[in-house]
Amino acid sequence: MSNLLASQPARTLLCGLVMLSGVAAFATGAQAQSQTNAQTLTKDNGAPVGDNQNSQTAGPGGPTLLQDVHLVQKLQRFDRERIPERVVHATGTGAHGTFTATDDLSDLSKARLFAKGTVTPVFVRFSTVIPGRSGAETTRDPRGFATKFYTQEGNFDLVGNNLPIFFIRDAIKFPDMIHALKPDPVTNVQEPERVFDFFSHVPEATHMLTRVYSNLGTPANYRQMHGSSVHALKLVNARGGYVYGKFTWTSRQGERNLRPGEIAAVQGKSTSHATVDLYDSIAKGAFPVWDLTVQIIKPEELDKFDFDPLDATKVWTGVPQRKVGTMVLNRVPDNFFEATEQVAMAPGNLVPGIEASEDRMLQGRLFSYIDTQHHRLGANFQSLPINKPLVPVVNNHIDGAANTSGRTGRVNYEPSRLAQVKEDPNARSSQLPLAGTTQQARIARTLNFQQAGEFYRALPAQERDDLIANLSGDLKRVKNQDSLYTMLSHFWKADADYGRRLVKAVGADGAKVATLAAGLKE
Ligand code: HEM
Repeated sequence: MSNLLASQPARTLLCGLVMLSGVAAFATGAQAQSQTNAQTLTKDNGAPVGDNQNSQTAGPGGPTLLQDVHLVQKLQRFDRERIPERVVHATGTGAHGTFTATDDLSDLSKARLFAKGTVTPVFVRFSTVIPGRSGAETTRDPRGFATKFYTQEGNFDLVGNNLPIFFIRDAIKFPDMIHALKPDPVTNVQEPERVFDFFSHVPEATHMLTRVYSNLGTPANYRQMHGSSVHALKLVNARGGYVYGKFTWTSRQGERNLRPGEIAAVQGKSTSHATVDLYDSIAKGAFPVWDLTVQIIKPEELDKFDFDPLDATKVWTGVPQRKVGTMVLNRVPDNFFEATEQVAMAPGNLVPGIEASEDRMLQGRLFSYIDTQHHRLGANFQSLPINKPLVPVVNNHIDGAANTSGRTGRVNYEPSRLAQVKEDPNARSSQLPLAGTTQQARIARTLNFQQAGEFYRALPAQERDDLIANLSGDLKRVKNQDSLYTMLSHFWKADADYGRRLVKAVGADGAKVATLAAGLKE
């Protein structure tokens, strides 16, 4: 913690005060920050405070007076300092930087962000998923890797993770999955019993569980990890043609993860080690860099795979990566709350040339983020400085709490002869051919286990040992035998050696697990 404070600019520590110079009554944030002394303390209406040490009382021994507006206001504002934490990904840290498009992607996408040579400001927030705010950054979890690109055509958010896949493939399961992973509502402690009770019903999670219980589930810090969009997005070119693209961030710092024996030591020193690492690196001028690449699948190729490429539980094995650009993070926010806490990343923030695919998880996410942000940050959250696009916002979404739009004019509807705004044909969405009826059915090509086995076999021997130690440690705590044996059969089905080693580590009956595994379908 002391490292972190030392590496922050001194001005951050002044931010609790509303500063007023004797001359310029309306100092901007930047002006206020440059003034280091002789600031007059004020109330929220800007009037000077006479005494910030003693409440107004009725004489030396009497009660406190309600007329002490400064005292009341100070307590009122303090009482309201917290906003709801994110329902997931509550612990995080962020940094500003730039993204430079280094390669020409115009054959695939008309997004100006991807025109070779374009430099776009970005804000990135890294996070853990399950712990509440200020949770330990050593937690075994995927890591959020969310990037807001402030492009010339509006904001584009790439809200991904460090791992290239996800646990489930349909948004309808997300609230249940998070409930199972969050602390037990009785004990308030995360319980493997509940976690594996849920996942024993979700065979498609075998791949992600294998990755999360490998050392990839405990990255050494946020700089030395890769990132992924997880989902395919649609890249749309100027002719209206589209392809599916899955994005990957590759860290130039390399990838480094904590081994099981290292976690306690790191956590014992700091629960914010990854935040400290990022802030320290940027303060030293060692700016972290990632290369962005994209894998492309044409619509007519979707059926060629033995899995569904729009299933978020799958990697796109064998599909080449094409370079898109490079990102550097070079500045930490001056105010953690205003930037990192108030940033609203949303998969629905897209720009012309980038659209959502039909991935059933992504489709749910398009609604969920902007909805939760209305609740978490209020109706006008897109106007907060960290979320505000660089381009003007011109529409008739008006009023609401804490509105600062500065909008003028009588015409707050469209169409109108009195004040015309125009639509942009370039921003019309691409057209998806459809046939059939509405339905509620799982996808056809599930391939629930194969990629988990491929991942397991590709791990170096020591990493495989670590995976067995990490996973069996939690499986041993599952008391319900049906949950335990179902989980073991999923891992056995992925790879028999993987299953056998887990069975041995938890002391289960191998023959029974083998029989269960033999009954499973991919
Ligand atoms: C249907 C599935 C999902 C739902 C409903 C969902 C929902 C949410 C919600 C409600 C938040 C809090 C947002 C906020 O308060 O600003 C969030 C944060 C986040 N989610 Fe998801 N999520 C889903 C799947 C995923 C997947 C598959 C990924 C990775 C590709 C992901 C990555 C993230 C990240 C990185 C954040 C933190 C963003 C930030 O730093 O502010 N989520 N999610």
